[in-house]
Amino acid sequence: VTDGPFGWLSTRERERVAAGLRRSLRPREAGDALVDLASNDYLGLARHPKVAEAAADAVRTWGTGATGSRLVTGTTRAHADLEDALADFVGCEAALLFSSGYLANLGAVTALADAGTLLVSDEHNHASIVDACRLSRARVEIAPHSDPDALATLLDASREESRAVVVTDAVFSVDGDTGLAATLPVAREAGAGSIVDEAHSFGVCGPGGRGLTAALGRAADPDVVQTMTLSKSLGGQGGAVLGSRAVVDHLVDAARSFIFDTGLAPASAAAAHAALDLLRTDPTLPERARARAADLAALARSAGLTASTPSAAVVSVVLPSPDVAVAAQALCRTRRVDVGCFRPPSVPDGVSRLRLTARADLTDTDLTRVGDALVAVAELAGRA
Ligand SMILES: Cc1ncc(COP(=O)(O)O)c(C=O)c1O
Repeated sequence: VTDGPFGWLSTRERERVAAGLRRSLRPREAGDALVDLASNDYLGLARHPKVAEAAADAVRTWGTGATGSRLVTGTTRAHADLEDALADFVGCEAALLFSSGYLANLGAVTALADAGTLLVSDEHNHASIVDACRLSRARVEIAPHSDPDALATLLDASREESRAVVVTDAVFSVDGDTGLAATLPVAREAGAGSIVDEAHSFGVCGPGGRGLTAALGRAADPDVVQTMTLSKSLGGQGGAVLGSRAVVDHLVDAARSFIFDTGLAPASAAAAHAALDLLRTDPTLPERARARAADLAALARSAGLTASTPSAAVVSVVLPSPDVAVAAQALCRTRRVDVGCFRPPSVPDGVSRLRLTARADLTDTDLTRVGDALVAVAELAGRA
């Protein structure tokens, strides 16, 4: 061996460069004055003075970290209060905070689907659900995207497992679409439990931003469990699982990503609580985020691009190749607009896209600048 045990990494890197899939980190600078269509700060609350103040107060009260795992020293009054407030807002019995949405999905899926479970996962589910399915000891079937008939067939097929669980994003992270209204009843019909990831719908969809499960009147049902992140509409950091008291009690005893992880920083819990209070008192925030998403899709289409029809705040714009997607993202930056770029392996179907995320606080001036950038992107894509 001439190049050591990790010598193969350079071969992989060359392959990624050739395929246009090399990634790099770009630190944001404070006050960079870009129109932000790349973050998940859907309601524009990440830097709201009340949210920042709540975080600062919590740091002064509790310190900078949770100091231990949730079952030891990592549960503070800030955690317990936010759990009660989230459950009350969404309309279910109980909630449990995790230190990220990724870990909430890992904990919920692995603890609720064991070796005796058939676990059915939509093919467009977020990577955290994909990884959770791999970690669970359940038999996993991947369901065709948002296809209720295919889901029913998978659940009806004769099987050894005595239990079944369906896991799905409420709004899918790449295209911003939803199939929940069609798939959730299928799971119930088959006697299966449902785990619904409300990461992109909480704060944007449903009554007052309570999410799509609540919109379907299913938030309080004992056969439904919801997961969410505090890092999108609530502008912070962390995750949560919401469901019946029995489910939450089980997770406290069995979810390894809850038990063996330092608790969420108290400042993150307090910040998310302040953001939740703002959402609760201003029900126009979700409506504004959705209206801005519709504006972004219309701008992309009038520039001649193919844009998704947004169910929440995410708009996806299909581009011909990973290279064009990267060039389009760079072009937008020269126009002072920051957009997301999704390429394989982050896209379930291998199609590269720009991802535009709306925020409730986008101004008309911002949208004019975005429209100009999208016209330039359409010209670039047309030349490719
Ligand atoms: C659908 C979905 N679920 C879960 C997560 C993970 O949440 P977090 O970033 O809080 O780990 C994300 C993205 O971040 C997501 O898009």
